[in-house]
Amino acid sequence: MDGLTSSPAIFLTGTGTGVGKTVAGCALAAAWAARGLAPRVLKPAESGCERRGGALHPSDAWALREAAGDTRSLDEVCPYRYALPLAPAHAAEQEGGPPDLGRLLRMIAALRETPAPLLVEGAGGLLVPLAPGVQMIDLAKRAGLRLIIAAPLGLGTLNHTQLTVRAARAEGIPVAGIVLSDLTGEDTPAARRNPAAVRDLCDAPLLGVLPHLPGIGEEIRRGARPGTRAAARLAEAAGLLDMGMLENA
Ligand SMILES: Nc1ncnc2c1ncn2[C@@H]1O[C@H](COP(=O)(O)OP(=O)(O)O)[C@@H](O)[C@H]1O
Ligand SMILES: [Mg+2]
Repeated sequence: MDGLTSSPAIFLTGTGTGVGKTVAGCALAAAWAARGLAPRVLKPAESGCERRGGALHPSDAWALREAAGDTRSLDEVCPYRYALPLAPAHAAEQEGGPPDLGRLLRMIAALRETPAPLLVEGAGGLLVPLAPGVQMIDLAKRAGLRLIIAAPLGLGTLNHTQLTVRAARAEGIPVAGIVLSDLTGEDTPAARRNPAAVRDLCDAPLLGVLPHLPGIGEEIRRGARPGTRAAARLAEAAGLLDMGMLENA
């Protein structure tokens, strides 16, 4: 239902791992949930999952599901889980089968039949191996989703952010926008200069800077369901982003 106001269908990627994708995703999901839009989330493949009891716990998928207030099962929200901290294609070499691209595309197509925002969080960045001969970027492209690129605010972001935008453009994937996440809260020259630099250098809109939210990692691990203080913090942070640009693009 992309194109309908307030029903964006987004593939959330980043300039790498640990760059703020899940926190940004929880913030967007919390903002949509607070507006009663019943967002859906999908983490197609998660590796580095902790073992809890007999099962693998996908912490990103779980955090996104809580923030969205999505009530579907974890199997639906994260169909492929691996324990090894490797790219999904590589973890799968030692842990059963790799993600099935066709199945993931069917899941995304089914989710898009509902007129609600959809947020799909990739693993790592765009060129991470998802399955043999398949990278994350192939999933985003074949699913016809627009990208949001999460990147750290500080030093080292300009090269990675431009490379990511260029990789998307080269495949004809629309980039809805870039979110710079203030991971450290440090007032550095790069943190001050980078937003304007990203605007100048990247052929994609800057949705804004997600402010530093001390302790947010722990809060989303505990669950930021709609109505909680954590959800309010996330939604407030998302309110600083240009959500209108995202929804009307
Ligand atoms: N805006 C922020 N404020 C504070 N901490 C953040 C922020 N964004 C991300 N973090 C922290 O940085 C780390 C990596 O973020 P995460 O969203 O998990 O990255 P990714 O999903 O790209 O791997 C986590 O510990 C997370 O809690
Ligand atoms: Mg993540």
